[in-house]
Amino acid sequence: MTQSTSSRRDFLARTGTVAAATALPAPFIQAQPAKIKVGMMLPSTGAFAPLGAAITNGFRMAVAERGGKLGGREIEYFTVDDESNPAKAPENTNRLVQRDKVDVLIGTVHSGVALGMAKIARETNTLLLIPNAGADDITGPMCAPNIFRTSFSNWQPIHPIGKAMAERGHKTAVWISWKYAAGDESLRSFKEGFEKSGGKVVKELGLPFPNMEFQPLLAEIAAIKPDAVACFFAGPGAAKFIADYAAAGLKGKIPLYGSGFLTDGVLQAVKEQAQGIMTTLHYADSLPSKRDQAFRTQYATQFKMQPDVYAVQGYDTGLVLAQALESVKGEIGNRKGIVAAMEGVKVDSPRGTWTMSKAHNPIQDIYLRRVEGEQNKYVSVAWKALADPARGCRMG
Ligand code: BEZ
Repeated sequence: MTQSTSSRRDFLARTGTVAAATALPAPFIQAQPAKIKVGMMLPSTGAFAPLGAAITNGFRMAVAERGGKLGGREIEYFTVDDESNPAKAPENTNRLVQRDKVDVLIGTVHSGVALGMAKIARETNTLLLIPNAGADDITGPMCAPNIFRTSFSNWQPIHPIGKAMAERGHKTAVWISWKYAAGDESLRSFKEGFEKSGGKVVKELGLPFPNMEFQPLLAEIAAIKPDAVACFFAGPGAAKFIADYAAAGLKGKIPLYGSGFLTDGVLQAVKEQAQGIMTTLHYADSLPSKRDQAFRTQYATQFKMQPDVYAVQGYDTGLVLAQALESVKGEIGNRKGIVAAMEGVKVDSPRGTWTMSKAHNPIQDIYLRRVEGEQNKYVSVAWKALADPARGCRMG
């Protein structure tokens, strides 16, 4: 479903016909620069709906901080609910690119949907900013001058957890996740990190996205009795997994680890069952920085809820676009200038300062966190300035 906020007045301003339409004498005419058309393709229904909402909040907060303008230009939003459905990705992306003719495309959460978006962005040379989906290929073999990611690659956030687990004496682990790009790529990265630290993945368990029937797989884990379990889940499915893990009697017996998507944005729902879970991610709820504290206070005031990693990624997407448009004075057609600005960006983010890699993916700190109360408490920096290996990217 798409929605546009364009009006006849905007159309007249864009086509330079305001004077004719209003018949004002020339000295009274104020030329209004055309609005920048931003296409937001995010899930507002389905398994990742809360993640899409947090990204939207974060992005709009960054724009609101600039008086509703980026590079001096007002924003006109076009939105599509992608339902986290990869099969609908081409049709949904084309609604924004071909029909609405957006200047910049922002999306999405699900790696499979983002792969479809990136293919069309490459074919049509549309400027694409990815505020979540980690599909490694997008900043690997599919990397392109017009595609930037402001979040992470699937390889990145989970990579350091294997070392942290080995340091806690775990020698064997069972892996469990949804079987799609994000789960499969997280597994590859986890295995790489854990086995390099002397650990062994003794079983790989999976179920189709967004299936939440975890019980049979949890029974298998109980029978295997590994030292630890590691996983990739996110959103309401992650909350259900944490609850089922405890209900299966595994909490307190076999420590549960994962990338921080497991526990971000879900702690209100599963606070008791999640206590003590350790994860790695590029954000934590109690970072020792004034920048993050100010962000958290403002977000909580504006949206009456606590921010999570998805809100931060949406916010940072706004910061990156703002910096690029400011550097070209709002000239959205100056692609060369925009790309150069985004490549050189140094983002003063609530997650900590990060820069853009040659493959257009954040180089950022990854934190070790532990669930305490309703927070993913910062424990330590698990990996300073971690860059995705960008295997297969021929750019830069
Ligand atoms: C992904 O599909 O890339 C993804 C979805 C939710 C959280 C993290 C990654």
